[in-house]
Amino acid sequence: MGKTIRVGMLGLGTVGTGVYKVLTQNADSITSRVGASISVEKIVVNNINKERNIKIAPGVMTNKVEEVLDNPDIDIVVEVMGGIEPAQTYILKALRGGKHVVTANKDLIAEHGKELFDAEKEHHTDLFFEASVAGGIPIIRPLKQCLAANKVSGVMGIINGTTNFILTKMTKEGRDFNDVLSEAQQLGYAEADPTSDIEGLDAARKTAILASVAFNTRVTYQDVYVEGITKVGAMDIKYANELGYTVKLLGIAKDQEGQVEVRVHPVFIPNAHPLAAVNDAFNAIFVTGDAVGETMFYGPGAGELPTASAVVADVIEVARNIQSNVTGRIGCTCYEEKEIKPIGDITSKYYLRLIVKDEPGVLASIASVLGNQKVSIATVIQKRNVEALAEVVLITHKVKEQNLQDALSIIKGMSITKDIANVIRVEGEDE
Ligand code: NAP
Ligand code: HSE
Repeated sequence: MGKTIRVGMLGLGTVGTGVYKVLTQNADSITSRVGASISVEKIVVNNINKERNIKIAPGVMTNKVEEVLDNPDIDIVVEVMGGIEPAQTYILKALRGGKHVVTANKDLIAEHGKELFDAEKEHHTDLFFEASVAGGIPIIRPLKQCLAANKVSGVMGIINGTTNFILTKMTKEGRDFNDVLSEAQQLGYAEADPTSDIEGLDAARKTAILASVAFNTRVTYQDVYVEGITKVGAMDIKYANELGYTVKLLGIAKDQEGQVEVRVHPVFIPNAHPLAAVNDAFNAIFVTGDAVGETMFYGPGAGELPTASAVVADVIEVARNIQSNVTGRIGCTCYEEKEIKPIGDITSKYYLRLIVKDEPGVLASIASVLGNQKVSIATVIQKRNVEALAEVVLITHKVKEQNLQDALSIIKGMSITKDIANVIRVEGEDE
């Protein structure tokens, strides 16, 4: 009989169920690829009595984590329970016990990656996390391996399916944010508490992980500047369309001469940019490398089987490493310490929507304040009145963010200004 590599799973929810299905349904081809069979020995859950829509072999389910972590027969721990604790304690215990770990846990990797990768290195184990960013889309291993020849200067992605679904509906149907959010919740795209998705926090965790891997430096969730999509209105989307742009929530990471920019916020992106065509709940990551040029990775960013596809691929990679006695070969790639650029120091083009008095000289006053702060205007539209006030829409040329913010705080205090209705950065076009 051939060799068996034994897996202990922590969690049997959406992702765990998919992992069990893929490992069992594709067992024959996986065995051929690895040269050993992979067997799920134990699955730890919270509630052992819960009704589940999957049949698990008798004796496999347990609510005692020691049956995985203290079990000398288990080679690989698959952590798909989520959250920071107790997942962090369990993963550290597994690594310190010489077990390899595969996780989908973006919250944990984005906040406590360093402790985990230090333990991985110390114990010559593998800690793989492909599914933590963009579900089924291969991006971590491509960055660490397939693009390893490159200096990567930028990674920019649609990495949250819920918000992309909402923005796509708003764009195609001209509807307002709250209206579409309710529908997304009814359809099961958005969670009952959608805060993490719509406020950009989920995308910020994924951006921190992408930036760390792409630029070989430690970037944590707390380093990421975040704005969600709750302020994007139907009018902003209408103006974007009129000006040749699409509104998307992007995770953006740029390496600029050793300083790293990491931010998540809505953007106007030109309709011709490949990310503008990524619709519904799909994800895509656009990577720029000095040798390869521009590449884009596209696909399903979440869900039972797509996420399991990434988790099981990691399990297969660990199993191959075990077979060849080369575990711990590609560990943490964060060997540099780059500074994080403050948001005020970035440069961008901006879309501004202002509600101002409809009087002679108003536009000139706004242009003068912008000009004094070195903000140059590329486009101006004034076509709509809002209760006897004028709605003025401007696109600026590229300018340092702090200059724009200084100009806006002056404009906000002027008697002609009723409201700064929105400010959205413009990405993905050169000047
Ligand atoms: P989920 O459906 O809520 O499942 C969580 C599972 O973990 C459940 O089986 C639960 O047990 C178990 N569990 C929770 N706390 C536990 C504890 N203290 N001890 C033992 N078992 C515990 O979560 P999920 O959607 O599968 O997500 C799992 C991970 O994958 C998360 O880190 C998530 O961010 C990540 N991820 C998810 C997706 C996705 O599409 N869902 C995509 C990419 C990444 P019970 O079944 O008994 O409640
Ligand atoms: N909530 C995430 C999304 C899926 O909407 O993309 C899990 O990463």
